[in-house]
Amino acid sequence: MVTVEEVIIIPSQDQEKLKEEVDRLYAKLAKLGWTKEACESIAPFTLRINTIKKEKGIKIFAHSYQTADIIFGVADIVGDSLGLAKKATEVEEDTILLCGVDFMAETMKILNPEKTVFVPEPGRDCTLADSITGEDVKRLKKEHPGVPVICYVNTNAGVKAESDICCTSANARRIVEQLEAETIIFVPDENMGKNLAELTGKNIITFPGYCRTHHALSEKRFNTLQDDAAIKTFAHLECKPEIIQKVDFAGGTGDMHRFVKKAKPGEKVLFLTEQGFVDRMKIEFPDIEFVDSNMICISMKRNDLPTILKAIENPTSENIIELDEKVRKKAFKAVNNMLKY
Ligand code: 13P
Repeated sequence: MVTVEEVIIIPSQDQEKLKEEVDRLYAKLAKLGWTKEACESIAPFTLRINTIKKEKGIKIFAHSYQTADIIFGVADIVGDSLGLAKKATEVEEDTILLCGVDFMAETMKILNPEKTVFVPEPGRDCTLADSITGEDVKRLKKEHPGVPVICYVNTNAGVKAESDICCTSANARRIVEQLEAETIIFVPDENMGKNLAELTGKNIITFPGYCRTHHALSEKRFNTLQDDAAIKTFAHLECKPEIIQKVDFAGGTGDMHRFVKKAKPGEKVLFLTEQGFVDRMKIEFPDIEFVDSNMICISMKRNDLPTILKAIENPTSENIIELDEKVRKKAFKAVNNMLKY
């Protein structure tokens, strides 16, 4: 077995820094049950990554579904899809490392063509983004002439390029409500499209795409998780309509974050979304009791500290996001429209 010490040698003059790093990590991660030894095993990585990112002027962005060692160990900016996209246009640094899934890095590149956007390792897929192409959108537009197209941010640049406006789970409802049209094409998340139709009363034409993590949540499992009537339940809009009908609140990751900021100490909350977000909330809001969802996005979980270190030390062309400029320019319009909401 290769030990951390064999991979990263910390010089003796930096041993004090290493100890401080272990304490910094332990102060956060102990809330999730991490031991001091576990923090000792990752501290050489976080220390090295944080040193290199400063030397090279790199900002690390992490989606809330990343693991806590990434979020609290090395990330500079953490958020939902909308928050990350907005922040990407505000940071001064010319280089962004995105820890999430590939479409999120693409969205950042669409908005920031002059910046270098790279990922720890390419191939972090998303079942929603992989379910649809720009050609599918062109066909839908032909079938429904004049009907505006909203594409969910979980899509590739080719789909965004064919859409009128992009949305995330945080602003999807607002955008559907504020568009003048009564009939809207919404791609590719069928559950979200149906949920938005129910919430807004508009006629939504959907496409058969699903998030494998949220779609897998069954009513039976929901009933098991909600074993106490006092639990406040909040489901991500990617969950099935039968789940959305049963919960107290529905929305995106950003809405959940705002909700918990107003929760009272001791309150019990069940967020029906990826466990990474639940873990983040447990650390940020220790006075609230969170029920584990155990909903795991395997793509998000494929990023880890060793792959981040490898990419940040020595990025190859494989790590760097490149887009066809014509497609990017078309996609920019849809993404930029979204930022107004
Ligand atoms: P948010 O827009 O809520 O961050 O969700 C992103 C996502 O991929 C959910 O599966």
